[in-house]
Amino acid sequence: MTMPAAPPKRDVLSIADIAGELPSLLARATRLKAERRRGLPRPTLKGRTLAMIFEKPSTRTRTSFEVAMHDLGGHALYLSSKDLQLGRGETIADTARVLSRFVDAVCYRAYRHTDMVELARWATVPVVNALDDLEHPCQIVADLLTMHERWKGRWKGHRVAWVGDGNNVLHSLLLGAAAVGVDLTAAVPRGYEPHPEVLDRARAFARASGAQISIVQDPRTAVRNADAIYTDVWVSMGDEAEAAVRESAFAGFQVNDELLALARPTAFVLHDLPAHRGQEITDAVLDGPRSAAWDQAENRLHAQKAILELLLRRTAPARRRR
Ligand code: CP
Ligand code: NVA
Repeated sequence: MTMPAAPPKRDVLSIADIAGELPSLLARATRLKAERRRGLPRPTLKGRTLAMIFEKPSTRTRTSFEVAMHDLGGHALYLSSKDLQLGRGETIADTARVLSRFVDAVCYRAYRHTDMVELARWATVPVVNALDDLEHPCQIVADLLTMHERWKGRWKGHRVAWVGDGNNVLHSLLLGAAAVGVDLTAAVPRGYEPHPEVLDRARAFARASGAQISIVQDPRTAVRNADAIYTDVWVSMGDEAEAAVRESAFAGFQVNDELLALARPTAFVLHDLPAHRGQEITDAVLDGPRSAAWDQAENRLHAQKAILELLLRRTAPARRRR
């Protein structure tokens, strides 16, 4: 008798890799959130291990992945690239091959998307993008969960306004919003537009879902009658050398009470955090009653559990693979 072939491993390097599964991921994350509130953890990832390679700092992503694995009966290992041999010149390919012999999945926070692709190319276990210079897919699954909760699952008729940089978070938001069918208007300063290939891909998803995607330069145009306003730092990790130039380019792009007044009265404010208070967002807005940032942060946990289950339930545990 021949054994059935093992399913190929799946990576989440872009939110586009899970575009078709977003509705079921959000439904599963909602159930996992409710289960955790009742204190009934179901160990769906019992005995599974996740290696977490971080080249950059993290509070939310690291903690939520680690707690997600613990809650689901598995284990997570934090590996700073500074402490790995990777930091002394061992190749990404060799690191990927070795880690694949020990663990069931790898999440990776990288400076360069090309390094993310290289790790995924050589790893024989699923690789999850925990942020790079191109995307932050897990963040946007949590953000979609936050919007889904507040809009009771209805995407049509709602519009998100982005105010800020055409960065990794906007890239994943463009793709995720277009995939589920929520309208998005992004206000970005000239010269800081999102990557044209990401925009093309988002527009292709939008054609299928019916979402409207537009890029403008005036934050007021984006925010007028919006149902949610999303902002992020002006200076992302890795962009520090451009801090002064960016701070002047983004000067009119602060989410404050005046800007918020242009949105719908029911509109809420999203921020992936960490925030640079007084730059892209004021204390009054971030700490105010319309801030959804703390729910967003919590939702990282529930969203990532759903992603990990999706990837790991298809593969045999590391100890049984060979
Ligand atoms: N939003 C987010 O990814 O936060 P951390 O950098 O703290 O992980
Ligand atoms: N755009 C930000 C997101 C941080 C979670 C960065 O890349 O630093």
